[in-house]
Amino acid sequence: MPSHADDHIVCIIGAGYVGLVTAAGLAEAGREVRVVEVDAARRAAVAAGISPIFEPGLDEVLSAVVASGRLRAVETMSQGAAGAGIVIIAVGTPPTPDGEADLSQVRQAVNQALAEVAPGAVIAIKSTVPPGTTRALARDCSRDDVAFVMFPEFLREGSALEDLRHPSRVVVGGEDAAAVKRVAALLGGPATTRLLCDSVSAELVKYGSNAFLATKISFINEMAQLCELTGADIEHVADGMGLDPRIGRSFLSAGLGWGGSCFPKDVRALETSAGYHGQSFWLLKAAIEVNSQQRRRFTAKLLQGLGGSLEGRTVAILGLAFKPFTDDMRQAPALEVVRQLEDLGAHVVATDPVALDRARPLLPRTRLVADPYATVTGADAVGLVTEWPEYRDLDWPRVLGLTRGKLVVDGRNCLDGRAITGAGGVYVSMGRRTRGLPAALPGAAPESAATSVPPLPLG
Ligand code: UGA
Repeated sequence: MPSHADDHIVCIIGAGYVGLVTAAGLAEAGREVRVVEVDAARRAAVAAGISPIFEPGLDEVLSAVVASGRLRAVETMSQGAAGAGIVIIAVGTPPTPDGEADLSQVRQAVNQALAEVAPGAVIAIKSTVPPGTTRALARDCSRDDVAFVMFPEFLREGSALEDLRHPSRVVVGGEDAAAVKRVAALLGGPATTRLLCDSVSAELVKYGSNAFLATKISFINEMAQLCELTGADIEHVADGMGLDPRIGRSFLSAGLGWGGSCFPKDVRALETSAGYHGQSFWLLKAAIEVNSQQRRRFTAKLLQGLGGSLEGRTVAILGLAFKPFTDDMRQAPALEVVRQLEDLGAHVVATDPVALDRARPLLPRTRLVADPYATVTGADAVGLVTEWPEYRDLDWPRVLGLTRGKLVVDGRNCLDGRAITGAGGVYVSMGRRTRGLPAALPGAAPESAATSVPPLPLG
């Protein structure tokens, strides 16, 4: 065991999404970073400067920092932790069947690190863990010359490097003030807002942030339902609400709801944690229910639009990843939607610019096609699930010339409804009136009535 812990050397355990992006960003900022990764293929990819995950800009940064020697992927903890002042735990905390966070990988990584780290090192938990975990790890620790802190991450897939270079905030929690300060110095510049607190609060900042954003989305989705019932337009409602700086427009985009590796897992884990303390967190239960309802509402729009039966009908799905600019299929709304459509008897043909390889094993009944025009050919209806910019820019006269039916259901309110109705299509979206086919569909209105009236400037 080396005698000296040097904060210039950072060891990151886990070359998953968070670990790899953090490693690349810290190495880019000048630290000497070692990533401990058990998976040989992942290590080889990193060593070759190639990202094993799709994240804009990551390949370029990785190849530069690997070439300069500032980032190394290593196999064992002794290679990684030797001399490191800070060891960042970035392993997964997947949900158990009960919705709890499974901490076995975190515990294992901590125990391995404790066997190797130099006296004075800080172990920073970046994995998302339930309230009290960091304190319990410190309490159960076999060494009193190592400190523990909670170091939540707020990276968004698709813009993770930017988030790392210019963090909106750096939060570090722990019971050892000096250790907290050392970890807080890792990210951001002098102007970055830093919140230093106890470890339980830091754990709840992470869960609270994700759960709040997810609840905000579920709220606007419930409002979208009311807009459909009353004839209002959710986009105007969200714009108007978002103009209040206390509310803000972000995370008020109505549609198929939240997916991904974080929101679904973290909302459930927070709700479960609250339950252990005797609290029923009703707001979160409702947010989860509304979210799963959004998928069913979308499927129902396709079903109703096709006359009440999907048996033998072909539905083309645009977009599979849980959001644009990622190939991540974890908890992607597309998975639920496609399965529902197939269970109702539809043949689904689906496309995505980058997620097809990841989607293939998850959707064995679905025909996956790279080209969107080939995807829609012969389809009775088209459903948009992920708002990739290339789908917004499709040539709609060409699309509707290739399809058999004219129905387009936009699950993200991102398409140009006028371009679709102008090409002879029927445009159905979320929380807005149907365009293009008066009276034939629930919520349909004559094109004139559906015409958007821009909000009047007040002043
Ligand atoms: C989220 C948080 O935004 C990050 O701050 C956090 O670090 C990360 O989880 C994490 O815990 O690791 P991410 O999962 O990459 O990041 O995705 P978001 O951009 O937050 O989107 C989550 C989901 O909400 C997506 O399915 C997206 O389509 C959906 N969404 C987002 C909406 O349905 N409406 C909106 O207005 C915004």
